[in-house]
Amino acid sequence: MTLIFATSDKGGTGRSVTSCNMMYRRALQGDNVCYLDFDFGSPTAGAVFEVSSAMTGIVGNGLHSYLQGRVVEPKRLDLWTTSDRSALRTRPVGSGALTLLPGDRGGGEFALTKDVTRRCTELFLRLEEEFDICLVDLSAGRSFAVDLALEVSGQQALSEITCRWLIFHRWTRQHIVAANGLAFGDRGILKTAKAYGHEEDRLRDSIRFVRTAVLEPDSTLLTTISPAKSAWLRECNRDLQEWASRHELGLSNVLGQTPFDPMLQWREQLISDGDVYTTRIAAEETATAFDELAKCLTDDSAWEGL
Ligand SMILES: Nc1ncnc2c1ncn2[C@@H]1O[C@H](COP(=O)(O)OP(=O)(O)OP(=O)(O)O)[C@@H](O)[C@H]1O
Ligand SMILES: [Mg+2]
Repeated sequence: MTLIFATSDKGGTGRSVTSCNMMYRRALQGDNVCYLDFDFGSPTAGAVFEVSSAMTGIVGNGLHSYLQGRVVEPKRLDLWTTSDRSALRTRPVGSGALTLLPGDRGGGEFALTKDVTRRCTELFLRLEEEFDICLVDLSAGRSFAVDLALEVSGQQALSEITCRWLIFHRWTRQHIVAANGLAFGDRGILKTAKAYGHEEDRLRDSIRFVRTAVLEPDSTLLTTISPAKSAWLRECNRDLQEWASRHELGLSNVLGQTPFDPMLQWREQLISDGDVYTTRIAAEETATAFDELAKCLTDDSAWEGL
């Protein structure tokens, strides 16, 4: 199994929407997939998957309840049958499991204890037997969830599981600097991980960045802008590329990017092939980007040491 920890320094980067779409694509590609909502302060992954009973988490037996020992097993939602989305209700032949482990409604952040760590470890080990890939949506910034992920993944018990980190950021200077800080800063993931027994070089090789909602200067969305604006955008884009490579977020550290899509600007949701080819409300490039990112998650050549 591959375990993906999805995080970002800032909020609202597109981490959850991109992660949900990647996992949906992965299930369509035939893998058994599980999405864990570890955004303990705001567990809203159910909204993106359009499960009306879990829009802001569930009552009584979500991940909060499990990790804090109130139930012995967290509730699992089979998205092919529980989502309100008709594209999900018609499960394509050959697709894998698509499962959501939601948080508890109003659950909030909670402190780490040995018992929380143990339950989390046991959960990951149980999931390993059933799923090809699990994605843990960890919330924005430094949080208990990030520490929990570092602590659990640093243990010998998880040495058979491939753990990888994705840091999502928007294509702006502030976001580039912030994402660099989260990965490599004094209180960042790499520095914190040492205390949990991680080897720095190995962990560094398992961190990649994802640029979200990138408006490329030659995007078809910009065909009517003036030459002056177009030239300015190109200059900004070049500047951001330099800025990114100076902050260790250059191409060799990037797993992929998603284009700005007006549909996602207006609504956080999964993009189905029907949205692209039937109703045509989503861009083909966006669906392709999710598809490619989904494949790259387990493509070892995208994760080789630099
Ligand atoms: N490619 C895109 N183009 C346009 N808008 C996007 C794109 N990707 C995501 N968005 C939008 O950005 C907003 C924030 O996305 P999302 O909720 O996934 O971010 P997040 O990083 O998970 O936020 P939070 O920190 O609050 O959990 C949403 O409205 C989402 O639909
Ligand atoms: Mg989110």
